[in-house]
Amino acid sequence: MRFDILTLFPEMFRGPFDESIIRRGQDKGLVSIVLHQIREYATDRHQTVDDSPYGGGAGMVMKPEPLSACITAARLQNPAATVLLTTPRGTPLTHQLAVELAGKSGLIIVCGRYEGVDERVHELHVDLELSIGDYVLSGGELAAMVVVDSITRLVPGVLGSDESAADDSFSDGLLEYPQYTRPAAFCGLTVPEVLLSGNHARIAQWRRQQALQRTLERRPDLLQSAPLSEHDRRLLAELGR
Ligand code: ADE
Repeated sequence: MRFDILTLFPEMFRGPFDESIIRRGQDKGLVSIVLHQIREYATDRHQTVDDSPYGGGAGMVMKPEPLSACITAARLQNPAATVLLTTPRGTPLTHQLAVELAGKSGLIIVCGRYEGVDERVHELHVDLELSIGDYVLSGGELAAMVVVDSITRLVPGVLGSDESAADDSFSDGLLEYPQYTRPAAFCGLTVPEVLLSGNHARIAQWRRQQALQRTLERRPDLLQSAPLSEHDRRLLAELGR
């Protein structure tokens, strides 16, 4: 998967993209990330990338010409890519959407800044506007990092066989069950006996029940769309749903 990221602050990405899973994805040759400085596509002497909004109002708007030229240049290098723009007004990013995006042949991510981006850039170039949550960040860079991270871990081969994304929260529509490791007793708290039993069927049953209970307590909205068996429904009924 090739990501082209268009930003006014490429330096923000250096730390997060040079560590952990994203680093590994790049080292294995499964993911490549190319950063583009939008300012390099401004043609005036001051390399202007923003201007005041038509109609008045606070803040600055990203001008269409440099951004459009930068997107066109990225498209030449990543021709089959889907163009995303990070903005709080976008479609909420979910696990399901990350899976869908991981299946694309390439992604170009435009990081919005200032009060917004000239609407004509959206119309001309953007396939999907993405939000990472109902709050406002100072810019789209942190959101783009979240998008890249959530997709990279779904690219086949990036995670090792011992760290499958299949058990992650949301992958089966539920929150993840609680996890424990050694020691068996810590600060007076012990690991549930079933996890020490070696009985894999009982462990799987306990984990499913815990995932259902957590989801019911914390994110009952997820239960509307999670695939649930008859047994799951009976367990939820016992839990008072
Ligand atoms: N830019 C500013 N806030 C954002 C958000 N919540 N999601 C995506 N991009 C953003």
